[in-house]
Amino acid sequence: MARLRVGVVISGRGSNLQALIDAAADPTYPAEIVLVISDRAEAPGLARAADAGIAQRAIPHPSRPAFAAAADELLRQSGAQLVALAGFMRILDSAFVDAWRDRLVNIHPSLLPAFPGLHPQRQALAAGVKFSGCTVHFVRDAVDSGPIIAQAVVPVHCGDDEERLAARILAAEHRLYPMAVRLFAEGRLRIAGDTVAIAGATASDIAIFNPPAALASTGG
Ligand code: GRF
Repeated sequence: MARLRVGVVISGRGSNLQALIDAAADPTYPAEIVLVISDRAEAPGLARAADAGIAQRAIPHPSRPAFAAAADELLRQSGAQLVALAGFMRILDSAFVDAWRDRLVNIHPSLLPAFPGLHPQRQALAAGVKFSGCTVHFVRDAVDSGPIIAQAVVPVHCGDDEERLAARILAAEHRLYPMAVRLFAEGRLRIAGDTVAIAGATASDIAIFNPPAALASTGG
């Protein structure tokens, strides 16, 4: 069966892009990366794409509409069926978000709708939450909003700083994004209003405690 054609849009490091490239290296994975676009020519992610033999292009960002029009044209030429934002650090033009509606996904390092926007790990630490994580969602026309596809939960440890928490969340991102793209490629996602139902998903009733419940119950 033909694999889903995915375009990835980045601004920088590209470690999530790498996770998708690695997943797609398995011929049984149902998606392939056909194009990588960056708004920054010096983005290390572009080299990752080149190393993997994937077409890649830096597009200047003189304005939101100009970037969006150029990206849209390249993505259409590439035959992309899904656009995955992976560390794209700008706000997309509304016309682009509309044109790719329900075929445009993003990953964000928090459990949305908590902590959208910049520095979500810093926001999580400041709020004192015991868990944070990451979210893959369909993109709508407001920052880090849209129907949630998948999330991974990561504990916040006592004494964490932003860097340690970000690294723990990033490790989960690298597992979650390929999984979410797989679900899309397999045609298992159904958007109903603000939510996403996943065909064939199994349910879990497991509760995770942080600090661990056994420890907490020995106190006092
Ligand atoms: C990730 O934490 C992603 O969730 C956020 O930006 C970061 C990008 O990292 N949107 P990388 O470029 O994929 O390494």
